[in-house]
Amino acid sequence: MHDPLLKWREEFPTLSHTVHMISHSLGAMPRRTRDRLKQFADEWSDRSIRAWREGWWDMPITVGNLIAEIIDAPQGSVVMHQNVSITQQIVLSALDWSGKRNKLVTESLNFPSNHYIFHHWPRYGVRVVEVESDDSKTVPLEKLLAAIDEETLLVSVSHVTFRSSYLQNLAAIVEKAHRVGAMVLADTYQSCGTVPFSVRELNVDFATGGSVKWLCGGPGAAYLYIRLDHIKTLEPAATGWMAHKEPFAFTPGPIEFADDATRFLNGTPAIPALYAAMSGYEIVKQIGVPAIREKSQRQTQLLIEQAKEAGLKFNGIENAKERGGVVIFDVPNGKAVTAELLRNDILVDYRPGAGIRIAPHFYTTDEELGQTIAAIKAAAELLSH
Ligand SMILES: Cc1ncc(COP(=O)(O)O)c(C=O)c1O
Repeated sequence: MHDPLLKWREEFPTLSHTVHMISHSLGAMPRRTRDRLKQFADEWSDRSIRAWREGWWDMPITVGNLIAEIIDAPQGSVVMHQNVSITQQIVLSALDWSGKRNKLVTESLNFPSNHYIFHHWPRYGVRVVEVESDDSKTVPLEKLLAAIDEETLLVSVSHVTFRSSYLQNLAAIVEKAHRVGAMVLADTYQSCGTVPFSVRELNVDFATGGSVKWLCGGPGAAYLYIRLDHIKTLEPAATGWMAHKEPFAFTPGPIEFADDATRFLNGTPAIPALYAAMSGYEIVKQIGVPAIREKSQRQTQLLIEQAKEAGLKFNGIENAKERGGVVIFDVPNGKAVTAELLRNDILVDYRPGAGIRIAPHFYTTDEELGQTIAAIKAAAELLSH
């Protein structure tokens, strides 16, 4: 079968010596990222302080504009930060929790970092309402929608859950939230780059995610999308001098916020991480997420079929339409089996309560699928003796 996306393998040196089934956790590094990091080093060394004016200062927006193209956001509506944990806190800090409308609705499969943050916010007036999963894999949509009411200020959910790769019905969640006057913050870390979506069409208020996984952008670069009308009105308490209208006036006292999305910034940005992140974004944009999704759905289905034939227990999402890019197999001694695969350059990971997580990406060959399943089966048998 001719797979036009395989031409991209050349661009990812690690693929010549590893079976890279771990893009839900760490995307492969593009070859040109090394050149980008060298460019940063050269600029620091050669241009020194002038580099700020020659591009560095604007990078939280110019790099955010690359993400905007992937998630269909207007240019200038995405700012770059270092991680999602920070962006969640910035959004929470931009809302007034002192009134009767002070509920934050979330679900139990949201990423733990987000839970840790939410459960610390009652001190600022937040009432956390957490909708439980019935099966540890999916979120009951009806229960979630019922929890969103006139007292809800924010709904904060994963688009695709990290542990089970369950694709939530974000459109229905946004519709209910907006109907009762609440806002929606979507954690799109596990969807962006593998499941196509448009923040404009979904009409989410905020979206956030990082670059480490499907975007092949490495650590230290996370995006925060803010709907244009909120950019004009919200004032994050978690702030800093980059959010000031005139940062170089160095005015003491309360901040006067910038009129654009830079008001969602705070201190000095992680410039090397932004350099590292760009190549992955460009590649994902060039390929197009719909093409990545089509291939992902075909390959995850193949993996499930091959694993069933091999007698492995599938512990992921059966319905392909509700499945993100990851499949999960629960085998005895899953942690040790994973360690054995890593020793053999087959890169997967293990999550307690879920199993071995496997993710093909646009650069994965069909042969690698069979290789991975055979290796899991062999390691599980070896370790059972
Ligand atoms: C859905 C989701 N949200 C958030 C995170 C963590 O983000 P960060 O480390 O950038 O705070 C992860 C990382 O695994 C994730 O999968």
